[in-house]
Amino acid sequence: MTTMTAARTLALIKPSVAANPHLVDTVRARVRAEGFAVKAERVVQWNLDDARRFYRQHEGRFFYKRLCGYMASGPFVAMILEKENAISDWRKLIGPTRSIAARLESGSLRGDMAVSDTRNAFHGSDSVNSAREEIEMFFPEESTAG
Ligand code: PPS
Repeated sequence: MTTMTAARTLALIKPSVAANPHLVDTVRARVRAEGFAVKAERVVQWNLDDARRFYRQHEGRFFYKRLCGYMASGPFVAMILEKENAISDWRKLIGPTRSIAARLESGSLRGDMAVSDTRNAFHGSDSVNSAREEIEMFFPEESTAG
């Protein structure tokens, strides 16, 4: 008998996509078609300081300022996604960070919706620990999520 353990990840639909309700619906449909359950969803608007805090480990890198500016440029959607291997499967579904690489990855969400390396449309937690921390940050009421 195979045992399936559901895992959770934090997904962000970044401002360039969140601005378009039709694109957000398309993303939700893809998410469900790939077997994820959306356990919670919220629209968030950051100021620059919120963005700087979230991306603080990248401070000093060449893209830090424009990444923070982008994330504070408008509302975005935060979701808790659940499925077996949610962390790696969501990152696989969104595709590579760089938009040129994403376009070569047929079927990836970034390949379809990223417009540049900065406006790369999606975020996914990169480890069990960061998923736990990020879920806690956006959905404190879900603090037992792991
Ligand atoms: S690394 O080297 O693995 O830490 O970098 P990576 O995880 O790929 O990227 C960290 C976050 O920075 C974003 N990023 C960029 N933003 C703008 N321009 C450029 N060139 C760029 N390169 C990386 C990347 O999308 C990551 O943010 P999130 O929100 O997690 O996607």
